[in-house]
Amino acid sequence: MTGKDATSISRIGEKSGSEAAVRGWLYNRRSSGKIQFLIVRDGTGYLQTVVAKSEVSPETWAEAERATQECSLVVSGRVREEPRAPGGWEMTVTDVRILGPSENYPITPKEHGVDFLMSQRHLWMRSSQQHAVLRVRSEVSQAIRDFFYEREYTLIDSPILTGSSVEGTSTLFETDYFGEKAYLSQSGQLYLEPAAAAFGKVYCFGPTFRAEKSKTRRHLTEFWMIEPEVAFLEFDGLCDLAEEFVTYLIARTLDRSAEDLARLERDTSKLEAVERPFPRITYREGIERLAAKGFPIQFGEDLGADEETALTEGNSRPLIVSRFPTAIKSFYMQPDPEDPDVVLGLDMLAPEGYGEIIGGSQRIHDLELLERRLAEHKLPREAYEWYLDVRRYGTFPHSGFGMGLERFVTWMCGTHHLREAIPYPRTLKRIYP
Ligand code: 4AD
Ligand code: MG
Repeated sequence: MTGKDATSISRIGEKSGSEAAVRGWLYNRRSSGKIQFLIVRDGTGYLQTVVAKSEVSPETWAEAERATQECSLVVSGRVREEPRAPGGWEMTVTDVRILGPSENYPITPKEHGVDFLMSQRHLWMRSSQQHAVLRVRSEVSQAIRDFFYEREYTLIDSPILTGSSVEGTSTLFETDYFGEKAYLSQSGQLYLEPAAAAFGKVYCFGPTFRAEKSKTRRHLTEFWMIEPEVAFLEFDGLCDLAEEFVTYLIARTLDRSAEDLARLERDTSKLEAVERPFPRITYREGIERLAAKGFPIQFGEDLGADEETALTEGNSRPLIVSRFPTAIKSFYMQPDPEDPDVVLGLDMLAPEGYGEIIGGSQRIHDLELLERRLAEHKLPREAYEWYLDVRRYGTFPHSGFGMGLERFVTWMCGTHHLREAIPYPRTLKRIYP
């Protein structure tokens, strides 16, 4: 049997009591004299297959003995229910065929350092925990698209090669564009604002780039961002949207990724506890609370990872911090009419120390103010003429936010470092594999 009519392991239950073949890789094996247990994985699940010396031909027995970790193979036999086996099914083997041998697979069941594992990322993703995290990522991505689709947003893909910076000039990746300077996109926002005037409610979802020189567990140089932008939406509505979005994604993850979260031993009661409304405080309230906790932050200073963790301590829900000092936020943020030293920007901080997952704001819709801000931030006016057009032709209040996919997935999975939440992480020191 070549496995052409192979069953995927996730559907093996449909073959209960009958013959089936599975095609995949040898995940693990155990033998006890006259019985070999071959654990096969095919990407959709794991199946324990049992080879009994007394029931198979000597060739099949020998072939099973030759099967080493991560060789590809086809295993055929009878499927039966076995509550003690992983997944609940077991196969009594009649035939084993090795398709591709695998000698000295570098990742063994012993402990390896993360640096080594990251250099083997192309293989490490076969391991059960990494596999689970990336499946959660896939589910979350789908949930993100469904959320916006169900609410009649139009998907507007923003460009990756850009001529203007959004989030400051210190983290730009520069590249030559036929003799002109171009940058890898830091955010699709500037391209979404004009689209909001064309379509009303829009979003983009794609890779973004930041030349982050800092080596932290929360920063990648390439990460995926989901960004909605909505015409006529003002700041309070934006906070509501961010809250609705996050609770939707959590419910979907708990529903569709239960098996993977269990594999990751995620304490899902912590995620089930996330309900609306989320607590909301202003930056000014935040620094007062921090002062009481022994963090002497002055107005105008940014909140670091330690401050974020201190602010969310004891919270079961994310915290929305709003109204940051104008000087520490991006040029496009709308000033608060009631407190002109601060802007209508928000950061959503996840509980359990996962930090900022969302950053967003109401945008400046007044042409003159925006021109002034560009000058204050020493941004080259010519590169933003097209963006200013949004204010020249039928300006309107509008708001949007960005959520880092890896930040969210890391929180869902309860993993420590962002680098495991993306298939091929790019960090300060890593562009291989
Ligand atoms: O707060 P940020 O910089 O906001 C923007 O880029 C806005 N233009 C978005 C918008 O309003 N449309 O980034 C948004 C989110 C952060 O909250 C964080 O989740 C994620 O993007 N993020 C990163 N994730 C991984 N690695 C990095 N280096 C990240 N920088 C930001
Ligand atoms: Mg931010």
